[in-house]
Amino acid sequence: MTFRTVLLSAALGAEIRGLDLSRPIDAPTVAALRAAWLEHLVLVFRGQALDVEAQARFARYFGDTSETQAPDERSMKHNPDRRVLLITNIRENGRPVGFLPDGELQFHSDSAFLDCPLMATVLYAVEIPDRGGETLFANAYRAYETLDAETKERLAGLRAFNIYDYATQVKSGTLERAGLPQAVHPVIRTHPETGRKAVYVNRLMTEEILDLPPADGAALLETLFAAIERPDCVYEHVWRKGDLIVWDNRCAQHARRDFPADQTRLMRRIGIAGDVPV
Ligand code: SIN
Repeated sequence: MTFRTVLLSAALGAEIRGLDLSRPIDAPTVAALRAAWLEHLVLVFRGQALDVEAQARFARYFGDTSETQAPDERSMKHNPDRRVLLITNIRENGRPVGFLPDGELQFHSDSAFLDCPLMATVLYAVEIPDRGGETLFANAYRAYETLDAETKERLAGLRAFNIYDYATQVKSGTLERAGLPQAVHPVIRTHPETGRKAVYVNRLMTEEILDLPPADGAALLETLFAAIERPDCVYEHVWRKGDLIVWDNRCAQHARRDFPADQTRLMRRIGIAGDVPV
């Protein structure tokens, strides 16, 4: 099997052309795709017609699929498969049937509030609004590399506290910590496959740096968030129905733009299990 790789931006991201993911892919092609993914961090496949099994098979080319948190009765009805998380604003009796239903999301790395966050995410566009809801991807290696030598030196060995509440979609800093998933991770992590360093704090979920006085930690976090958000670190993906994207949460962050509340957005997410960040 052969495919073409088309760069999507100077920051990160490549579109892979010539593969039909509704069918199995042979081992040499999987190896080539994995190599392209490590190089480009985000791979985009357009025009795919995928059921859950085909998406899960694709996800397993990258690692073990993870199970989502225990679903409630409502989400079970719409999605009984524990590998799948529906990201959608569809509601039943006024309550969302999935997760992350509304509007803008700040930059983050998926499940950074867990001890073993997702290594990668495979997101498939089932239904999209006619405008808005774009996903922005940031190259967290590049963000680290933009920092000056003195800042890099200060960052060595620092740890940060991460927390998030799916129920409220509220930014960290205002959350009642008790009962919410939370984890301490290095501020800068080293990618286990490439050996490169990447910024691993994010605006949505990182609340504080543990090893610094609060004001110093807050200022340093702002420097790191700004590095992630530099236009030369970011690729913005405008979704089409049938797009599939796999990204590497160890070295890429993502954010979402707002979209009209009266239009349906339905994305099917499968996560790939990860290790403890170091
Ligand atoms: C996510 O943050 O995992 C969702 C991204 C999106 O809805 O585009």
